[in-house]
Parts: sequence; structure tokens; C-alpha cells
Amino acid sequence: MNILVTGGAGFIGSHLVRLLVNKYPAYQIVTFDALTYAGNLANLKDVMAAENHHFVKGDITSEQEVKAAFENYQITDVIHLAAESHVDRSIEGPMEFVHTNVVGTVNLMNQARAYWKSGEGHVFYHVSTDEVFGSLGSEGFFTEVTPYDPRSPYSASKAASDHFVSAYYHTYGFPVKRSNCSNNYGSNHHPEKLIPLMINNILNKKPLPVYGEGINVRDWLWVEDHARAIDLIFHKGAIGCNYNIGGWNEWRNIDLVHELCKIMDEELGRKEGESAKLITCVKDRAGHDLRYAIDATKLFDELGWKPDITFEEGLRSTVKWYLENQDWVKEVTSGAYQEYYNNMYNQR
Ligand code: NAD
Ligand code: TYD
Repeated sequence: MNILVTGGAGFIGSHLVRLLVNKYPAYQIVTFDALTYAGNLANLKDVMAAENHHFVKGDITSEQEVKAAFENYQITDVIHLAAESHVDRSIEGPMEFVHTNVVGTVNLMNQARAYWKSGEGHVFYHVSTDEVFGSLGSEGFFTEVTPYDPRSPYSASKAASDHFVSAYYHTYGFPVKRSNCSNNYGSNHHPEKLIPLMINNILNKKPLPVYGEGINVRDWLWVEDHARAIDLIFHKGAIGCNYNIGGWNEWRNIDLVHELCKIMDEELGRKEGESAKLITCVKDRAGHDLRYAIDATKLFDELGWKPDITFEEGLRSTVKWYLENQDWVKEVTSGAYQEYYNNMYNQR
């Protein structure tokens, strides 16, 4: 197999590329990534030079760049993760989300169809999010048959791309698989997102901006458990399948931030309760979805997947990774990110 992994230099993509390169030496893994602010070759430093890994800097919205990658590497399969992924940025500028997430996905499928001629023997795996299902109240879970109800520009763009993927399956018999996953956490997560942002601010004794009252709930999954699920579905799922992936691990934001403060106090040798004093409730996110929670029973029953790592282990190991990789943090938060951060938090 020659697998094109789009977005392979991003957070989840880099963990998936590492898994595939190490687990399948006979496959050729081609990371295709535009290296936007969210993509970073440092995420792949341990596999960049592997014999079965290749890197292509390219944009999924470009017909020529995608076509050339298919031809140059005789691509047999695609695992598609490239996307604009941050809800707050989608509120500030939705068009980029439409362009990358919708137009980019359709362009990729068009190039794959043109190159593969028939879908026989190929897989186009589309990685999506639970946010397409909208917002839950205090009870219930998203399942594979929950109707779509996206409420942020980000989730609307992901929902639109999911619909195009499904339309290509039904209309052209295009060989798709899809999964919708809950919030991931772990190493190499961009510090614009909740967990690394809080770790960074705790370390630097900066205010910890909790949106609203911090009562919103997210279901957190260790990123390597997500990568394992993708590997499993890619190999064992039927063409046309869709699976929900989640951690059975719901946390209110405010409780999670307190937990991070506790771990950081221990790791940094600070007095108990010192970091929690930095918690600052700020203006809420517009249209902030109250609760996401995944029922991943189908994936467990059909393919035997369940999360490996407890949240306790995963969160501690994530904190340690950030403390030990401050060069990485400095690199991804330098330049344009500082301006983004200041604008975002001055508004609040
Ligand atoms: P990320 O923002 O960390 O990485 C996205 C990657 O895509 C970056 O490397 C970036 O350079 C690349 N990219 C962006 N635009 C591109 C373009 N036009 N052409 C080529 N490459 C481009 O995102 P992530 O958190 O790793 O998410 C990966 C995928 O998983 C996304 O599709 C996202 O919707 C989905 N997802 C994420 C989560 C989560 O918790 N992070 C949960 C469920 C699903
Ligand atoms: P985020 O990491 O942006 O993921 P998503 O919006 O895709 O779930 O945010 C996770 C939760 O944390 C979400 O409810 C918004 C909240 N949040 C804050 O309270 N403060 C912050 O600074 C950020 C970035 C997020």
C-alpha cells in the first residue's frame, strides 16, 4: 500500500503517521501537508528519515499538487485529516474553513477518482469530528445515527465535507470509510487548544481563560487511542462504514482546568492551590456547544476497540511532555501566534 496521509504534520496526523510508519514497514506512507500555522515538521522528527516515509508539502485545495502526489507516489489509499481545526478561528474567519475543509475534501476525492479509475481495492478514509452532531443537554450520547446539527462554522464545514464523502459513496461507488471522534489530547497539540493552552499559561503564571462559567462538557480521548482506532477501521471496517470514537471520559472544562492546576502544582513543586488562583472566567465563546459525549459501542462490538490509556495517566504524561518540550512550544507559539492570542484574549 502507498498511503497518502493528509494533515500528517498536524496533531493527530503526526501520531497516525508515526504509528503507520513503525507498524507497517512494507507500506509507503506519504505525508501530504501544507504546513499552515498548525502543521510542523518537528512533529514528525523521529520518522522523517524512515525509508518508508515521504513528505510532500502541498495544499489539498490544489488540483495540480494533489494530482502530482498521486502520480509520483502511485497512491493506493488516502487517510484524510488535513483541515482547519479550531472553532474560535472559524468564528473569526469562516471562509478559510469552507475552502480547506469542504473544497479541499472534494478536490482530494476528485483527484483520487481520476487516478484510481475504479474504486476497487482502494480506501478513502475521512477523519471527522463529533461536533457535527451539535450540542447535547445533560443526558444522552451521540451515536452513528444521530442526525447532523452543526452549530459552529468549523462543525458546519466538517459536516459539509462528511456529506460530500457520503454523496461520493452513494453516487459514484467511491470507496469511503469515515469516523467521528471526540476531543483528543496528548503531545504535539497546538497551544491554541484548551489543554495545552492551560498548561502553558499555568507554567508562565498567566491568567487561565475559562469561557463562560466553565460548565461545558467535552469527552477527552488520548490521541494515540484515536490513531489506533483509525488504523483498525482503515484495515477492518467495511467500505461505506462510519464509526464514532470516544473516550467515555466526560469532563466539565472548569473541573479539567482544576485538575491540570493540581498536576502542575505537583510537577513544578508549587504550593497546593497556587496555580488554581490563576483561573479567570472570561466572556463565553459565541454559540458555545454545551456538551459532547460519544457512544463508541459500535466500534467496541464490531472491531473490539477501546481506549488503552486512563485519563489520569494520559493527562500526567501530557503535562510532562509539555514541560520537557518547551523548545517546541516556543517555536509554535512564536510570531503570528502571539498576535492571534493577544487579539483573542483582549476581546474577552
Ligand atoms: P491540526 O490543526 O493539528 O492539524 C491540521 C493539519 O492540516 C496541519 O498539519 C495543517 O498544516 C494541515 N493543513 C491545513 N490546511 C491544509 C491544506 N489546505 N492542505 C494541506 N494540509 C493542510 O488538526 P488536528 O487536531 O490534528 O485534527 C486533524 C483532523 O481530525 C481534522 O480533520 C479534524 O477535524 C479532525 N478531528 C480533530 C479532533 C481534535 O480533538 N483535535 C477531534 C476529532 C476530529
Ligand atoms: P477546544 O480545545 O477549542 O476544543 P473544541 O472547541 O473543539 O471542543 O475547547 C475545548 C473546550 O474548552 C470548549 O468548551 C471551549 C473551552 N475553552 C476555554 O474555556 N478556554 C480556552 O481558552 C479555550 C481555547 C477553550
